[in-house]
Amino acid sequence: MAVHRYLERYHPMEKRIHNFNAGPAALPKVVLEEMQASLLNYKGSGMSILEVSHRSRWFEEVLEDAKSRMKRLLNLDDRYHVLFVQGGASLQFCMVPMNLLPEAGLGDYVNTGIWSAAAIKEAKIQGKRVEVVASSEDRNFCYIPEKVPVHPHASYAHITSNNTIKGTQWPSFPDTGAVPLVADMSSDILSRHFDVAPFGLIYAGAQKNLGPAGVCVVILRSDMLERVPPGLPTMLKYTTYVEKNSMHNTPPCFAIYVVQLVCEWLEETVGGLDKVEALNREKARVLYELLDRGDFYRGTADRNSRSMMNVTFRLPTEELEKRFVAQAEQEGLGGLKGHRSVGGCRASLYNATGIEAVRDLVSFMENFAAKNG
Ligand SMILES: Cc1ncc(COP(=O)(O)O)c(C=O)c1O
Repeated sequence: MAVHRYLERYHPMEKRIHNFNAGPAALPKVVLEEMQASLLNYKGSGMSILEVSHRSRWFEEVLEDAKSRMKRLLNLDDRYHVLFVQGGASLQFCMVPMNLLPEAGLGDYVNTGIWSAAAIKEAKIQGKRVEVVASSEDRNFCYIPEKVPVHPHASYAHITSNNTIKGTQWPSFPDTGAVPLVADMSSDILSRHFDVAPFGLIYAGAQKNLGPAGVCVVILRSDMLERVPPGLPTMLKYTTYVEKNSMHNTPPCFAIYVVQLVCEWLEETVGGLDKVEALNREKARVLYELLDRGDFYRGTADRNSRSMMNVTFRLPTEELEKRFVAQAEQEGLGGLKGHRSVGGCRASLYNATGIEAVRDLVSFMENFAAKNG
């Protein structure tokens, strides 16, 4: 069978590269191995994890465990619900204003790049009243605004906690007083410790730090549910996901299963968010230190706004950038091309990327600069 020929040729678990993709992105090897083992016979069920019913006890356990681990990792109290929604972070751009921004209300948004702009656009499409209260567009989104003057009567203030494309990240979150924060944390959820109390809602497409594409994790504070207007389509209202435990219809079972494994790995192997944050800080420090050492590489984000997750940089010419990405790939360092909308280079250092991958990258970069500088 063709599948066997594929296995003979590629030995999937042997020749793995250092994966710096922005998403879908690297997953922990132990998670991939566990996943592989569950593909034929999941926990003695005699069925693949891909074959068990979403109403079976096997999947029920997966869902409950994924939720409890997420709650423990983020230190969520009983007011918070953990929901699993399809449609990616992009559907949340639409569901957030649809559910949380009343007709007469005002949504404050901070524009820190392409994904923030996409969130703003989706609110405006619905005819909602939206105001951009802070922006870094004046300098091509290379920084995080220091002041966020929210309107005290705003329904929420929306931010993008980490800007995957521009390589910036909020070093700490803005004080919005009584106005609930809403955050797109797609590219830095579970990468660092933070206080969840000011947040009414957090969403994150799983395919960067949480698991595979196909599920978006939504963390919702229960008081937000009071705003959900009547008459919304069933699959577009948060109340459905809360009332039906994210199982109104068939959920993305396999993606949720992998989120569960990643959370288990974070809790039990890595040792929680403080530990992973220390590792992430060290990985970013090592790479930025190299960028700052000479003038061959140039980081694109302001220093105090630099992302720990997506390190964006330029080389002296586009020609050199092309060569850099191609040669890196030949040496087993993949995914270093910048987003197609901005060009340049980008190394994504999500939780599953180890310090040894970053050290190998740095040593490749030193050699490349020595030969081409
Ligand atoms: C910060 C951020 N928000 C939203 C998205 C869009 O996510 P999705 O493809 O899950 O809709 C991305 C994708 O890369 C992202 O990085």
